[in-house]
Amino acid sequence: MIDVKNLTYQYPGTEKQAIRGISFSILKGEIFGFLGPSGSGKSTTQKILFKLLSGYEGQAQIDNREVRNWSNDLYTKIGVGFELPNHYLKLTALENLSFFKNFYQHTHNPMELLERVGLKEHAHRKVGDFSKGMKMRLNFVRSFLHDPEILFLDEPTSGLDPVTAKVVKDIILELRTKGKTIFITTHQMHDAEQLCDRVAFIVDGEIKTMDSPENLKIRHSHRSLEVLFRNQDAKEVFNLDGLGQNESFLNKLKQHEIETIHSREATLDDIFIQVTGKSLDA
Ligand SMILES: Nc1ncnc2c1ncn2[C@@H]1O[C@H](COP(=O)(O)OP(=O)(O)OP(=O)(O)O)[C@@H](O)[C@H]1O
Ligand SMILES: [Mg+2]
Repeated sequence: MIDVKNLTYQYPGTEKQAIRGISFSILKGEIFGFLGPSGSGKSTTQKILFKLLSGYEGQAQIDNREVRNWSNDLYTKIGVGFELPNHYLKLTALENLSFFKNFYQHTHNPMELLERVGLKEHAHRKVGDFSKGMKMRLNFVRSFLHDPEILFLDEPTSGLDPVTAKVVKDIILELRTKGKTIFITTHQMHDAEQLCDRVAFIVDGEIKTMDSPENLKIRHSHRSLEVLFRNQDAKEVFNLDGLGQNESFLNKLKQHEIETIHSREATLDDIFIQVTGKSLDA
């Protein structure tokens, strides 16, 4: 559905390329996540793909057609959830959706969408009076109002409380079951793990690594077991390999009760820090 090869982009008037020769493909029905520090080029890549930025070099194809060759038909095929919501603040939530509904032949029912994200009782309120999270939810449902095949979501759960974030994530997963292709960017490693079939880590405009969250975790795993024995102050760490023959571990097991026991899989947070060399709030 999305095919990017050696994509490069430099904003006019800047010294440095924001995107430096990246390549990736996203299959139909796949949720693909772009993870990376602030300023690494996540939004820029998405903006090239939905034709907001022109003058890129390399290949950027949507459904086998180069983005620059798409007419406005592209916007029937794709839906876009912008990083910063842009609504008509003087209009109500329902009026906002109804306005965009007019651009398309086929759409979902706006009121049903508002209900899905807990905005039904606010449907007739001016969006200017909405909280940030309410605007984000409206922005999210607007992105797939016209039932697009491909959805670009820039930080879809940013600024949402855990319950609302779960509602949004459940809808994203439901859209995948309908065969939609979804490209998200996020700083939330936990969300990426729950949602994405594959993720790419992008740093300074380059993709550093790309795989499923499961494979990444196995590859970066510590292969160790952390045990806190009862009445002991500190946890002990044992190698998972050959654990059944590890005399010191087996003797400890015979002599002590266990308080807690955990294998130490790498989390996506660990991998983010390893791959990008930056902390999560960088
Ligand atoms: N309109 C613009 N003009 C010039 N430079 C820009 C513009 N927009 C972004 N950049 C630069 O391009 C680079 C990539 O920015 P981008 O917005 O793609 O990052 P991001 O990964 O989406 O970051 P964040 O996580 O903060 O949203 C940054 O160095 C940024 O300063
Ligand atoms: Mg961004």
